[in-house]
Amino acid sequence: MSGLFITMEGTDGAGKSTQLKLLNDYLKKKGFNVVLVREPGSTNIGEKIRNIILDIENKEMNCMTEALLYAASRAQLVNQVIVPELKKGSIVICDRFVDSSIVYQGIARNIGIDIIKKINNIATGGLIPDITFFLDLAPDKAIERKKEQKELDRLESEKDYFYKKVYEGYKILIEQNSERIKVINALQSIDKVHKNIIDNLEKMFF
Ligand code: TYD
Repeated sequence: MSGLFITMEGTDGAGKSTQLKLLNDYLKKKGFNVVLVREPGSTNIGEKIRNIILDIENKEMNCMTEALLYAASRAQLVNQVIVPELKKGSIVICDRFVDSSIVYQGIARNIGIDIIKKINNIATGGLIPDITFFLDLAPDKAIERKKEQKELDRLESEKDYFYKKVYEGYKILIEQNSERIKVINALQSIDKVHKNIIDNLEKMFF
């Protein structure tokens, strides 16, 4: 495949949305064909799945149901958008990908990394990002930011210890994928975080 597949990861509240927008604008200005998508969602089917997953009323959702729904949304997105765009040579930026499932479902929900990898291999056909940015924000800071938010979805309303497990999960994953996953200090100013991301990309690909 000739395109470039970039993913962005982080705990809730790390500032992903802002950085995704800045990165998208930057690459577009450079003249690339850029497609920005988010998980779960970004297809009609995926957005419906997203509503089921994040619905605060679905408190009885089994963790395996949750894992499979994320994978189902991902299968649709990979086949309908990501792979066709990469084949055309586009840069695809994805807000979260398999790493999120490994950390949130595999580690924080205790399903196990291997099971999540298997499910997702089936869902994605083994697609791996070319580069992944992890916006690193320590759990105490993330929890502070979360308290400033008014309406929380089902995942965001998890207890604080869940956030800590997610963060620890990312640290394990980063150790195992240190070539692919670039850690960016999310406590820096918005401009500095953006510059770190661009510097990494320029060094590796442009
Ligand atoms: P979203 O509102 O997109 O949160 P964020 O802006 O933090 O990305 O909601 C996505 C939520 O779903 C988020 O809490 C992380 C979680 N998630 C998983 O648990 N597993 C996954 O595979 C993905 C993609 C997301």
